[in-house]
Amino acid sequence: MRLDKYLCDMGVGTRSQVKQKIRKGLVTVEGEPVRRPEYQVDQEQEVCVEGEVFSYTELEYYMLNKPAGCVSARADEQCRTVLDLIPSKKRRDLFPVGRLDKDTEGLLLITNDGKLAHMLLSPRHHVDKTYFARITGRISEEHVKAFREGLDIGEKARTLPAVLEILDSGENSEVRVTIREGKYHQIKRMFRAIGCEVLYLKRLSMGSLVLDESLKPGEYRPLTEEEIELCRRCGTT
Ligand code: URA
Repeated sequence: MRLDKYLCDMGVGTRSQVKQKIRKGLVTVEGEPVRRPEYQVDQEQEVCVEGEVFSYTELEYYMLNKPAGCVSARADEQCRTVLDLIPSKKRRDLFPVGRLDKDTEGLLLITNDGKLAHMLLSPRHHVDKTYFARITGRISEEHVKAFREGLDIGEKARTLPAVLEILDSGENSEVRVTIREGKYHQIKRMFRAIGCEVLYLKRLSMGSLVLDESLKPGEYRPLTEEEIELCRRCGTT
């Protein structure tokens, strides 16, 4: 791979910034200064920029407990993004797999593995997403049935069958909901369809990937090899 691409992928800077550093002799490969951006480097070779060692990482996977108040985007002019919360990232091409609303918390997978993201998000694969929600109003078995039968949320078709579990029913209620699709504001629209408003929403799982409850909102960790494998499998079932 070209040296400038390697360094660009590793977030050292833009292509032109990286080229400048290389031409200034600030980059070494295996201890030798290399001044040609097109120099072919192996992923196993040791590359240093101004004394800092870089190792090449092709794919990265992080589990983030998204806090409320940040947006699920790669960049935003006004607001903190979920990528700003991953300071130890190496790749600059990471993105969140799917979107959570600004006020939603919970599980978000951040990666640069486009194939995996496609498998998890493709409507064809029907990957289950489970949420905890606190909502206004009482909730009853009738609502459980309505969720199971599909709701009119203003789309052409009703929602696919969803599982509503009542955890606590009162003036405000607590529930767990599992959906198999990912329409815009889907959970909020489903509750609105039965006359309730969502007060708090947190994603607990996506397919076999379950939020690590030791992560506080805003915290993250790399996925384990086992979790990566589980994600790959859940997109194919
Ligand atoms: N449904 C919503 O309404 N909001 C989310 O953030 C995720 C699912």
